[in-house]
Amino acid sequence: METLALKVDPKRPELDKIRIAAGVLRNGGLVAFPTETVYGLGANALDEKAVLRIFEAKNRPADNPIIVHVVNRDDVYVLAEHVPEVAERLIDKFWPGPLTLLFLKSEAVPNAVTAGLGTVAIRMPSHAVARALIAEAGVPVAAPSANLAGRPSPTSAEHVLDDLSGRIEVLIDGGEIGYGVESTVLDLTTEPPTVLRPGPVTIEELKEVIGGVEVHPAARAEVPVEVAIARSPGMKYRHYAPVAEVVVVEGPLEGVIAKIQELVDARRERGERVGVMATEETALRYRADIVKVVGSRRDPRTVAKNLFRVLREFDAEGVDFAAAEGLEPVGIGLAVMNRLRKAAGHNIVRVEQAN
Ligand code: TXA
Ligand code: MG
Repeated sequence: METLALKVDPKRPELDKIRIAAGVLRNGGLVAFPTETVYGLGANALDEKAVLRIFEAKNRPADNPIIVHVVNRDDVYVLAEHVPEVAERLIDKFWPGPLTLLFLKSEAVPNAVTAGLGTVAIRMPSHAVARALIAEAGVPVAAPSANLAGRPSPTSAEHVLDDLSGRIEVLIDGGEIGYGVESTVLDLTTEPPTVLRPGPVTIEELKEVIGGVEVHPAARAEVPVEVAIARSPGMKYRHYAPVAEVVVVEGPLEGVIAKIQELVDARRERGERVGVMATEETALRYRADIVKVVGSRRDPRTVAKNLFRVLREFDAEGVDFAAAEGLEPVGIGLAVMNRLRKAAGHNIVRVEQAN
């Protein structure tokens, strides 16, 4: 199969191209498309066979459920068995946008979408291309991130082609992505609701709207979570795993810099090719084979935006070992740390103070 790449204007996508892609979706095909978080790999959520093709194209484990993307609020009442009152408030405030809500599923949702679970994850994206595609297809769209399982989520059309070229019918190229980390996943079937995956909608923002919010230990990703207690199957996989061995160094900045340089020196001594994921404020402090600036410590949103690209670049450049600076795990910084700690396979070094 040859993948058809359609370049569109990300703000005002050309309708003729969106119609081609929507037609492919309606006929059971797979279409990768930009959202405000990362690129998604879409299929008609109501077509079980089409959804199963997503698992095949991504090599996705069959027990990992998929988020359903909608543009009409009414669809939530079709896909969910019960819509609690907190959902209404959250939808008013954060949709369209990077917040995924978990409901008890209705009969309308095929089991392939939810991997046999009793819940369904729903989100309404804000990206103009995603919205035009879903609206034109006229069906809810099941879409995980458009990467091969175990690779960082794609934040550009090139990343999607690197992983899925020849495996999917269409890629809509809408250029670079806004947030760069996947949506916040909030389970509304618990009391209080539980954040299963931190994302661009922060815990602080959720609390302002609904008061109590629990944060699942896997969302912090400080330690590996036992498979037995993984409520969201995606939690248990070592997502975003680069080929290189990765370590995250956390703590007061001067101590972090010193520790990273020490780890780097020891590895280079052994002849390894070593990379550092640094920030604008610190990059010049390191001696390593490759030093990459992921963003600014003063604005963690810039780190979120570049994180997956930098992880892919380390892989492409054949790095054996990469050390990354930790950020403060608050706001979108928690989403960044969740992805980084998972990329590191929970290989975390904590420094207490400068040494
Ligand atoms: O921003 C995003 O959410 C992107 C874009 C494309 O929308 N999508 C995305 O999908 O990140 P994916 O499949 O890569 O991650 C979805 C996460 C997984 O951890 C999955 O286990 C969890 O959501 N999930 C989906 N449905 C679920 C359900 N019914 N119950 C529990 N967890 C669920
Ligand atoms: Mg994913």
